[in-house]
Amino acid sequence: MGILGLFFAVFIACAAAAEFPFPLQEAHNVELTQDYDYIIVGGGATGCALAATLSENFRVLLLERGGSPYNNPLLMRVENFFLGFLDDGAQNFVTTEGVANARGRVLGGGSSINAGFWDRAPASEIAQLGLDPVKANTSYTWAENAIVSLPVLGPFQSAFHKGLVEVGVTPDLGATYEHFVGTKTGGSLYDSNGQRRPSSNLIAAYANATNLQVVLHATVTKVQFDDGLSKPTAIGVEFVDELGQIHAAFLKADERSEVILSASAIGTPHLLMMSGVGPAEHLKQKGIPVILDLPVGKNIADNPATRLYVPSMSPVEPALVQVAGITPFGSYIEALSGVQNLQGSVIFQKVVGPKSTGEVLIDSMDIRQNPSVTFNYYKDPEDLQICVGGLNVIEELLLSKSMTPFVNGMQAMPSGNILGLPIRKFYPKEMIDMALGAYCKANVGTMWHYHGSCRVGQVVDAQFKVLGTEQLRIVDGSVFDFCPGTNPQATFIMTGRYMGVEITSRRLTS
Ligand SMILES: Cc1cc2nc3c(=O)[nH]c(=O)nc-3n(C[C@H](O)[C@H](O)[C@H](O)COP(=O)(O)OP(=O)(O)OC[C@H]3O[C@@H](n4cnc5c(N)ncnc54)[C@H](O)[C@@H]3O)c2cc1C
Ligand SMILES: *[C@@H]1O[C@H](CO)[C@@H](O)[C@H](O)[C@H]1NC(C)=O
Ligand SMILES: *[C@@H]1O[C@H](CO)[C@@H](O)[C@H](O)[C@H]1NC(C)=O
Repeated sequence: MGILGLFFAVFIACAAAAEFPFPLQEAHNVELTQDYDYIIVGGGATGCALAATLSENFRVLLLERGGSPYNNPLLMRVENFFLGFLDDGAQNFVTTEGVANARGRVLGGGSSINAGFWDRAPASEIAQLGLDPVKANTSYTWAENAIVSLPVLGPFQSAFHKGLVEVGVTPDLGATYEHFVGTKTGGSLYDSNGQRRPSSNLIAAYANATNLQVVLHATVTKVQFDDGLSKPTAIGVEFVDELGQIHAAFLKADERSEVILSASAIGTPHLLMMSGVGPAEHLKQKGIPVILDLPVGKNIADNPATRLYVPSMSPVEPALVQVAGITPFGSYIEALSGVQNLQGSVIFQKVVGPKSTGEVLIDSMDIRQNPSVTFNYYKDPEDLQICVGGLNVIEELLLSKSMTPFVNGMQAMPSGNILGLPIRKFYPKEMIDMALGAYCKANVGTMWHYHGSCRVGQVVDAQFKVLGTEQLRIVDGSVFDFCPGTNPQATFIMTGRYMGVEITSRRLTS
């Protein structure tokens, strides 16, 4: 690189860095004050919202294993969504059933590598979570004001929205953050210039920089317990930096201080098990001293998504998920279009819930490696039935008037028919459904919505405190026993804010 190149590189780095007006520290040269009211593990979707909120009143240490997304166009630009999987900010893995998946490994977590779609949970799900609907609303709005907006649709997404309405996914809900049965255009983390707004922007918008230390490249290897007390009590954590040096961070000696795990539905159970909290049998097999026997990692779930690649006859704008068809029977239909400027779309149906669950188990003894993850996609016949229903809607959608410019007559339909030949209607429904069921299983993929590995009543109480321990809580997708909304990040981020407000108000009024 010549002098001029160097000048521009420095200039660009400074200009990009200026976009994030909050100090970020590196683990290898961090100075720890060891007086923390809260140590949060994981600066992901939920963890950033929680850290920003708790820092309004308390000393907070946020430890994130990845780096910063802010100077990195592969993560920050909408047109690079698929290239983002090649970046260090994504940790790819394959489930035991052979489905490719990914985890965020960067500040912002999943919200720094995801498709950006924003859908609140419906009122029934807020009630099921035991949350106060008015407080939940306030928490959604807190995040939306800083990082969400409604997109203007291009021709494909617009036709997709109209087509869903045309085939009966009604009413037409227009553009809204809220979730009802019908077809909606939802919110997005991407702004109108295609720039991502990860949940870590909530730190820049709301956190108190005097109270919050954000440390990058800090991989937490262990929660430290004092087990001389009546219950194992979290007192701090151990973490490793990218040079391999080990550090220890400690809570202030105050029984209200807490270690809070926000390392995701995969990272949180993994860390708990590596720390000695998990299924005793499994920990013994791995040679880990058992501190507490709990069903950590059991019942993790991911919403099966079955997809269809649809080449188009006319140009398609690059767009990630912007529209959702919300059917009354629990299938959510969404589409990515013009990916990497390819002329076509990927249309998905995703199953609500789901009913099928699996497990997370330790594989390597190095926590930086992925654990073994099983989801048992479509094991429960109800999940499969919902997929069949969703694919029936997608087949009708492909034949709709609105979608005509964006399909090709040679399209292979999931039922085995060709789009251009009007023979589908001559087959008995049972035959079509059987073919669609086989297609669901053969073409299962993920929308990366894993959750439920540390459920309420099994691993945590209603306040998300880890059962049988003191000063240890989980606030992330692990505690959800279903995936909220069509896509979960809105509700995970809302929960980070909500729990931050709850913890603060309980502590300040006690
Ligand atoms: C490719 C992709 C596309 C998606 N698209 C959408 C979408 O369009 N809409 C939507 O709503 N949802 C989407 N999601 C899902 C959404 O991003 C996740 O549900 C959400 O990010 C999960 O939030 P979380 O806080 O539970 O975990 P994460 O956001 O995953 O955060 C966990 C954080 O903890 C860190 N961590 C883990 N272990 C450790 C450790 N030991 N020490 C320190 N740090 C650690 C991780 O690096 C990460 O930053 C998508 C996800 C992916 C991967
Ligand atoms: C939550 O906010 C939405 C949108 O502003 C509103 O329609 C809804 O009635 C609110 N719900 C409650 C319980 O306040
Ligand atoms: C930030 O925290 C410090 C230390 O607790 C406090 O003095 C200051 O008033 C806070 N700033 C804001 C804007 O709340």
